[in-house]
Amino acid sequence: MTGAPGPTRMDLHHPAETGRVTPLWVGDRLDRFVAEELSRQRLGYRYALITDPRVAARHAAPLEAALRDAGLEVERLVFAGGERGKTRAAKADLEDRLFEAGFGRDAAIVALGGGVVGDVAGFVAATYHRGIPWVALPTTLLAMVDASIGGKTAVDLPAGKNLIGAFHPPAAVYADLAALDSLPDERLREGFAEVLKHALVADAGLATFLDDHASDLLGRRPGPLRHAVEVSIRVKAAIVAEDPREAQRRAVLNFGHTVAHALESATAYGMSHGDAVGIGLVVEADLSATRGLLQASEVATIRRLVGRFGLPTRVPPGLEVDGLVERCEHDKKARRGAPRVALLRRIGAAAGSAAGWTFAVTREELRDAFRRSQESPGG
Ligand SMILES: NC(=O)c1ccc[n+]([C@@H]2O[C@H](COP(=O)([O-])OP(=O)(O)OC[C@H]3O[C@@H](n4cnc5c(N)ncnc54)[C@H](O)[C@@H]3O)[C@@H](O)[C@H]2O)c1
Repeated sequence: MTGAPGPTRMDLHHPAETGRVTPLWVGDRLDRFVAEELSRQRLGYRYALITDPRVAARHAAPLEAALRDAGLEVERLVFAGGERGKTRAAKADLEDRLFEAGFGRDAAIVALGGGVVGDVAGFVAATYHRGIPWVALPTTLLAMVDASIGGKTAVDLPAGKNLIGAFHPPAAVYADLAALDSLPDERLREGFAEVLKHALVADAGLATFLDDHASDLLGRRPGPLRHAVEVSIRVKAAIVAEDPREAQRRAVLNFGHTVAHALESATAYGMSHGDAVGIGLVVEADLSATRGLLQASEVATIRRLVGRFGLPTRVPPGLEVDGLVERCEHDKKARRGAPRVALLRRIGAAAGSAAGWTFAVTREELRDAFRRSQESPGG
């Protein structure tokens, strides 16, 4: 009898002087495996399982049972979750509950959920008793391929997203593809927007694979899904290993995101992050072409590829272009009012060099790109 393949391990190497490595595991039905790993590693004498209500209802009980079977002590802490739950108050409340439950500095945190759970639980771990270990069990595609890789943790402020946080990498990441079974289609597409981004900035082979298997992937076929997740994680881990603090090349991971953030804020977050990134990838590819970096035919390929994943590819005609340009100028990556964007030199390679991986773009360039997008075919 041939079962599903066992978990795959990839490694994220932290700066050489730290000597640290984060193992990144991808597999199917990993509860028992995670329990065995944690009992072997002895990260803590007690584990706080931090999660949100939706994930708790679907995925917490089997994991807790596996941890207890392995002789580990675990207590569940649920917080509201969702972007609106990603607050300093949520962090403080979790900290109070950890103290009340008697968790000491020899405790460890298990973050089970999407990017919000990972960002908040990881930030709690970063400062609780001046830092305790944590592991990430991402349950959305976005968290598997993006949020749980790279050590950034944060909460939001009314003034903006992710403004307070810390770099505190998890001791390990376990991406259990079985968790995706319960993920709504819209959330799956959102994750694919980031997988597409990874392909476009660093892996032409992944771009071809995504093109060839779009319907398998949207249909959650296990083999192709696992391959896309593994390659995407590898791409992000390699870029982060090279530039953990985003001083240089890690900035290419913002490809598509300056435009995406402008669209999200112009629609008062009525447009989902995934849809905004889909459009952002196409608009920023178009900007790359106007700079003579990318061929027009490659922009067309990217538009088609984004569309194949059910993501929109053009700026809604109703949105006012000057307002979008202004929002780009207030982007946190802007310098002296000039937005800086990552650009492509071909599908699978970001433009740039050691001298810089982002490019200042003018109001006119942005305005023209938004107008061209509004006039382009497609939805
Ligand atoms: N730290 C980083 O480097 C990094 C990178 C990218 C994004 N992020 C952050 O990640 C967050 C977005 O993450 P997200 O999209 O995973 O959002 P999320 O954590 O809010 O999850 C989205 C929704 O899906 C539900 N959900 C999660 N897993 C599920 C499952 N398996 N089945 C059914 N429902 C499930 C959640 O309960 C929630 O309602 C943002 O706050 C963003 O800032 C962080």
